[in-house]
Amino acid sequence: MIAFEGVSKRFPDGSLAVDDFTLTIPSRSTTVLVGSSGSGKTTLLRMINRMVDPTGGRITIDGDDVAKLDPVKLRRRIGYVMQNSGLLPHRTVIDNVANVPILDGVKKSEAHAHALELLDTVGLDRSLAKRYPAQLSGGQQQRVGVARGLAVDPNILLMDEPFGAVDPLVRDELQQELLRIQRELSKTIVFVTHDIDEAFLLGDQVVILRTGGIVAQAGTPAEILANPADEFVASFVGAERGRRALHIDAEHGDRVLVDGTGRVAGVLTDGPGGMAGTAAGSAPE
Ligand SMILES: Nc1ncnc2c1ncn2[C@@H]1O[C@H](COP(=O)(O)OP(=O)(O)O)[C@@H](O)[C@H]1O
Ligand SMILES: [Mg+2]
Repeated sequence: MIAFEGVSKRFPDGSLAVDDFTLTIPSRSTTVLVGSSGSGKTTLLRMINRMVDPTGGRITIDGDDVAKLDPVKLRRRIGYVMQNSGLLPHRTVIDNVANVPILDGVKKSEAHAHALELLDTVGLDRSLAKRYPAQLSGGQQQRVGVARGLAVDPNILLMDEPFGAVDPLVRDELQQELLRIQRELSKTIVFVTHDIDEAFLLGDQVVILRTGGIVAQAGTPAEILANPADEFVASFVGAERGRRALHIDAEHGDRVLVDGTGRVAGVLTDGPGGMAGTAAGSAPE
């Protein structure tokens, strides 16, 4: 469990990126932080692994105050995936994936064997292992980024708009892939996006943010859709009304999430795991 307790971040130039943020992030499920640009999402994410240190409050992981943990060790046991994959351009795919475990002391042959398995996990053909990042499509690069995030076998995976820069079809595919990986691996995922549809599709818990990391509402997709806390949430949830707008439909006894075209985007369940995504919108396998 990750707990934010009254966390604030004021940068040296005086800007208050996060103001008194409190949230519990349960283990082995996906929490999505969603808000428009500048709302403090990246700052919140980076405070978990101490890429940024808070100026107020505290963050604990399973009860341990992260401020007391060594930042380098902390970062090596937490996976981090960013928007532009963050791959090292002059290293091959396999070297990119195996890099951190090798820095951590894992034997090169073992790290490479594990990296190949991770390519399977993220749906990449092993024949791509010797390529350089520039020789991959954007979607493939993001998959390598996810494989790299998983390479240290972290309990926690932080993902900062990882699918933001790929085209919509590939994005659908990567979202479905992440749902599948999460069903298999049950990591504690903290996922950041500005896309409310993506948040509802992937999140067991969705946290809607205003500027300053202010929590407008936190809950399951079903709770938020059924009971938006205020006008801000209602308009944010409905912001993309039209083709992709999501709503809940009670059909055949299931509570299903339906998009604006009438396609089922997911099934809402009450158990852990929250919402099981369906293949709607994904490309054929
Ligand atoms: N290193 C920094 N120095 C000063 N201000 C920053 C820095 N990083 C972020 N900010 C400011 O903090 C606010 C939140 O930024 P960020 O966490 O990147 O938001 P988001 O990821 O939601 O777009 C913004 O106003 C941004 O300009
Ligand atoms: Mg950001």
